[in-house]
Amino acid sequence: MRKIDSIYVIILAVLVGCSSPKESSNRSGSSYDSRIDSLMALMTLEEKVGQLNLPAAGDINTGLAKSTGIVSRIKEGKVGGLFNIRTAEKIRQAQKVAVEETRLGIPLIFGMDVIHGYKTLFPIPLGMSCVWDMDLVEKSARLAASEATADGIAWTFSPMVDVSRDPRWGRISEGSGEDTYLGSQIAAAMVRGYQGDDLTANNTMMACVKHYALYGAAEAGRDYNTVDMSHIRMYNEYFPPYKAAVDAGVGSVMASFNEVDGVPATGSKWLMTEVLRNQWGFDGFVVTDYTGINEMIDHGIGDTLAVAARALDAGIDMDMVSDALLNQTKKAIEKGLVTEAQVDAACRRILEAKFKLGLFDDPYKYCDLERAKTEIFTESNRQVARDIAAESIVLLKNEKGVLPLKKSGKIALIGPMANNIENMAGTWSVAGDFEKSISIIEGLKNAVGENASIQYARGCNVVPDADLESRISIFGKPTNRDERSEEALLAEALKVAKSSDVVVAIIGEASESTGESSSMSNIEIPENQRKMMEDLMKTGKPVVAVILSGRPLAIRWEAENLPTLVNVFFAGSEAGDAIADVLFGDVNPSGKLSATFPQNVGQVPIYYNHKNTGRPLPEGKWFQKFRSNYLDIPNEPVYPFGYGLSYSSFDYSNLTISSPKLTGDQTLKVSVDVTNSGDVAGKEVVQLYIRDVVGSVTRPVKELKGFEKVLINGGETKTVSFEITPEDLKFYNSDLEFVWEPGEFEIMVGTNSRDVLSTSMHWNK
Ligand code: BGC
Repeated sequence: MRKIDSIYVIILAVLVGCSSPKESSNRSGSSYDSRIDSLMALMTLEEKVGQLNLPAAGDINTGLAKSTGIVSRIKEGKVGGLFNIRTAEKIRQAQKVAVEETRLGIPLIFGMDVIHGYKTLFPIPLGMSCVWDMDLVEKSARLAASEATADGIAWTFSPMVDVSRDPRWGRISEGSGEDTYLGSQIAAAMVRGYQGDDLTANNTMMACVKHYALYGAAEAGRDYNTVDMSHIRMYNEYFPPYKAAVDAGVGSVMASFNEVDGVPATGSKWLMTEVLRNQWGFDGFVVTDYTGINEMIDHGIGDTLAVAARALDAGIDMDMVSDALLNQTKKAIEKGLVTEAQVDAACRRILEAKFKLGLFDDPYKYCDLERAKTEIFTESNRQVARDIAAESIVLLKNEKGVLPLKKSGKIALIGPMANNIENMAGTWSVAGDFEKSISIIEGLKNAVGENASIQYARGCNVVPDADLESRISIFGKPTNRDERSEEALLAEALKVAKSSDVVVAIIGEASESTGESSSMSNIEIPENQRKMMEDLMKTGKPVVAVILSGRPLAIRWEAENLPTLVNVFFAGSEAGDAIADVLFGDVNPSGKLSATFPQNVGQVPIYYNHKNTGRPLPEGKWFQKFRSNYLDIPNEPVYPFGYGLSYSSFDYSNLTISSPKLTGDQTLKVSVDVTNSGDVAGKEVVQLYIRDVVGSVTRPVKELKGFEKVLINGGETKTVSFEITPEDLKFYNSDLEFVWEPGEFEIMVGTNSRDVLSTSMHWNK
């Protein structure tokens, strides 16, 4: 090391090494402002630009491009952070290069997609959002953070809060479904879980809310596709979950791939600066999505220089994989496209994040190899994951009370995914340890022990078309196609079914049928699986269908023809046991859908909180000429938002409001009695919806405004109460002012968004 360099390092140590952890965790940043000033005074333009660069380490590759020559680039000060690198040991090595072999020794920030757990995997986010219990959501993020940080990771690219009403879109699996309110609650809970209340602790991590913005509204459900949306819809329906994460103190934001108002989000100054920073007061840093800057060339808004300048000018701070900021910023300054002050601002935000995380105090704070050995995939974490997985399962139909199953006799287990462990966890399970997880067969066997026999047959392949199947397993999750003919597979399954007392059929999709770049135009159960179900039904045995998927599937046929339906989505590393817990009644199901299940793909986009139109279809009708409806199917979905049954049955009565007329800032109290008329204790998610009957702009037919999950014993009645204030009635009007307007409000409470008790009241200014 040259002498001058050692002097810099000593100065740096004095300047930045003495902060107390508590000081560093202060969100305002004021406590380390002066230390950042001093550090930045030492930095060259190249070093500042280096901080804006986020290459992929290459352990996990999610895009077209790969970053190369990482170690030499770290040494040259061209790397601010790394992502998709795992294990405390490897991260320690990379950090050591940054700290000991660069001129200023600035630590790197290490990121990863810790989306629904780390090694202990929770349900995919769409499944997690069926739990409707924010303590559990927060706990899952807390445990994910404790495991990921024990393995070296400081920063997660989660929560993904893109509202989506289009099950064709494969990434609907990664979000919380269709609802703004539920999605906002989950966004905040996840941020709290990951970040805790002290980011300098070694078991909390920085969250990154994504994909800002509107990524879930891609036209035709095709990934990365154009988004075009009115501002009033953005503000009322799609923005709130991102804002909720910002309000909860999220440390970073990821830009989305799509365009917004004709400008790719990555280059939109309106989104990144005006809305995010000026309107919402976000004070963290913004990272692009994978090669997001370079992709603006294909979007058609300029060459590399132009798009790099555009991104920096918009308010992007960190460039994931493009290397565009690294290579173009100097030129962009020379040409007057951006200023050095803009580079300073971005660099400052990255350094600030590293201060907040306490990385200047201890760059190796997440690299304790002992923690990695003892705190990951622990029995207690796995138990929590199992409990949450069971709570995420939604009972859709239990016509003849076949469920819960008895732990006796002969059980036929049929289906291509019933013995596929890798498939259980769903998309984004990159740290999963599948050798330690179990399949559904094993889950069922664990539950029954010696008391019942489980006989398995595959029955069919996951899809009939081998080419489609190879595309589905391209990302490394094998679907284990069976080369026997479909007839032979089916014959084997029927033989097993006929010799059993009850049939459990695992149907649906493979894990990678959803997730990134996994959109589908046909969202029905594949025809070979449907044929299998028809033939299984013909055996006369009781048939239970368990659906694995990463999206709401169009299961009209199944809902009409199969007596028993259980929706799992993908429930994580403990799914095998959790499914058994529900099927055998060790857990009474309580999950409620967070997205509408359509009749067919033609109804998409479909969502409960739609507008009324000027020609609404009268209730109870399924067609009327010159009304807003379809000729060939009803408007109703197969299963509405909020829907889910239990082994108990819940009756709602006595919907009461504190007053039919309120004024100004008063509070409305709403209560309802919920009786469990069954024998077993069960949890029910009591849902409150409101309709603003007359507005200066049209308002949805109902909007979720509250919910409570309550445990009610068999035969017991519980009174559930909600409080509403004018704050809950606010929306963005045509001038995008956040206001509430006096008038009539319909108050609805029920077991799902369709089946509600209703009353109305007036609220005056
Ligand atoms: C995805 C992001 C993810 C990133 C890093 C991208 O392709 O869109 O959600 O965080 O890769 O892996």
